[in-house]
Amino acid sequence: MTKEAKVEEKKITIEDIANFCKSVGFVYRSSDIYGGFSGFWDFGPLGAELFNNIKRDWWTYFIHQKDNMTGIEASIISHPKTWIASGHVANFSDVAVVCKKCKKATKIDKSEVGKVNCDCGGEYDVKGEFSLMFKTKVGALDASDAYLRGETAQGMFLDYKLVQQTARKQLPFGIGQIGRCFRNEIAPRDFLFRSREFNIAEFEFFINPNEKKCDLLEKKHLDLKINLLDAETQASGKETLKETTIGKILKENKLEEWHAYWLAEQVMWYQSLGLTEIKIREHKKEELSHYSSATFDIDYQFPFGSKELGGIANRGQYDLTQHAKASSQRMEIYDEKYKNKVVAKVIEPTFGMERAFLAVLTKAYVFDEKRQNVVLKLTPRIAPLKAAIFPLIKNDEKQVKLAEQIYTDLKKEFYVAYDDSGSVGKRYARNDEVGTPFCITIDEDSLKGKDVTIRDRDTTKQVRVKVSDLRNLMRDLISGEKKFSELK
Ligand code: GAP
Repeated sequence: MTKEAKVEEKKITIEDIANFCKSVGFVYRSSDIYGGFSGFWDFGPLGAELFNNIKRDWWTYFIHQKDNMTGIEASIISHPKTWIASGHVANFSDVAVVCKKCKKATKIDKSEVGKVNCDCGGEYDVKGEFSLMFKTKVGALDASDAYLRGETAQGMFLDYKLVQQTARKQLPFGIGQIGRCFRNEIAPRDFLFRSREFNIAEFEFFINPNEKKCDLLEKKHLDLKINLLDAETQASGKETLKETTIGKILKENKLEEWHAYWLAEQVMWYQSLGLTEIKIREHKKEELSHYSSATFDIDYQFPFGSKELGGIANRGQYDLTQHAKASSQRMEIYDEKYKNKVVAKVIEPTFGMERAFLAVLTKAYVFDEKRQNVVLKLTPRIAPLKAAIFPLIKNDEKQVKLAEQIYTDLKKEFYVAYDDSGSVGKRYARNDEVGTPFCITIDEDSLKGKDVTIRDRDTTKQVRVKVSDLRNLMRDLISGEKKFSELK
C-alpha cells in the first residue's frame, strides 16, 4: 500500500532570501546602477564561492565518482541547424497571458491554454505564443542568424561520437556538462528561480535501445523513499502525494530501469546537500516536451510553493536521429556487448543550478532567536568559507603571529578568512550569517599549549585541538568523515 505523504514548508519569503543575499553579498541585481535588468543576476564574492562549490560538488558526484561518465564544455553558440534539428526553433515556446481580473501578466505552457486560470480565479486573456530562444547574429559582412543555447544538452548530442571515440567509451556511458543557458522568458520572477540567463548541469546517458537491465541498480536505489505526485492523480484534479519507493514505481512500469537508477541518484545528490523537502512529479502525457516519452520533475518546497528544481526525461533516440537527418552523418555506434551498430537511446537528468542554490539557501537559512542573528546551516562541503581564524586580541603580537601561521597553512587547502575586527561575538555572528562552519580562535593559552579552540557554527560548541592536527581535522569535518560531536 502506498501512503499519503506531506512535504514540510518553511516560513520564509522569497523577498527575505533576496534581501539577505544582497546584504551578505551573495547575489545582486545585474546592472544595479541602471536599476537592474529583469531576469539577470550577478553572484557577489561569497555567492560565487557557494555557487561554484555546488557546481563542483555536482561534477564530483556525477562525473568523477561514476565510472561510466565523462564531462565536456561545449560552446554556447553552435551551428544554427542544431536548434532546427532539435525542434527548439519550432517548439520551444510559451504562451503569454494576462489575467482579465487582476491584470497580472504571466506565461503558461501551450498545453494549458483554456485549461488553467490565474491564482486569483480570473480567466486569462491569451496574448500569443513566444519563442524562448535568444536570437543573435554571427559575423559582420555575411552575418548569419544563430541562437544562444536554450539547454546544454545539444552540445552532448553534437559531440557524442567524438567523445565516444576519444574517451574510448562503450555503451552505456554518459556525457555531462554545466553551463550557461539563455531563455527569453516572458515573465522572469521569484528572484533566481525564473531568469533569462542561468546555469544547467545535465547529462545525456546513452544506452543500447535493446538494453532493458541496469546493472548499477542496487538495494539503496530501489528502497529509496520518494513522495510522488503521479499523472493519474493530477488528471483527477488532485495534488495528493503518495509515499512510495523507486522500486515500487519501477514495478508499476512508470519508468525503465536506467531511468529509475538515475532518478534515484539525482534525488540522492539533492539529499546530500540537505534538500529533503522533495517531491517527484510525473509529467502528464500532454505536457511532455517534444523530445520526451516520460519525464519526472523533482520539485522542492520553495517559499513560493512546491516548484521544479530539476527533472529527468527519457529522450529516447529523438535527438540523435534528428541530428543524423539534419547533418547527413551516421549517429550509430558499435556496441561490443550486443555486437551490433545502434543509435543509442538517452536518459537525461537535468539540474537548474540557480534553483539548487536557491533551495540550499532556503533550507539553510535559520534565524536563531538565542543568538539574534541568521545562521546559515550549509553543509560544510559547499559552504563558501570553510573556517574563520581569529586572534583573540588583535594587538597581541604572539597571538597574531600564530593566527597568521594557521591561516597561511589552512589556505593552502581551504578557502578560509582571517578576521580580527570587532569583538569575538561579532566575528562569530558575521561568520554564522554566511555559513562558515568553523571558527578557530587563538588565545593566550594557545601560545603555551600549541592548541586552539574550534567552534561549531550549528551548536556553538567549542573544543580545543592541537594546531598540528588542525589541517587533517578540517579535511575530515568538511568531507563529513568526522562529526564535530565526536570531538573531545
Ligand atoms: N535539457 C532539458 C532541459 O533543459 P528544462 O526542464 O527545460 O529541461 C532544465 O530545464 C532545468 O533548468 C529545470 O529543471 C530548471 O531547474 C532549470 N530552469 C529552467 N528554466 C529556468 C529559468 N528560466 N531560470 C532558472 N532555471 C531554469
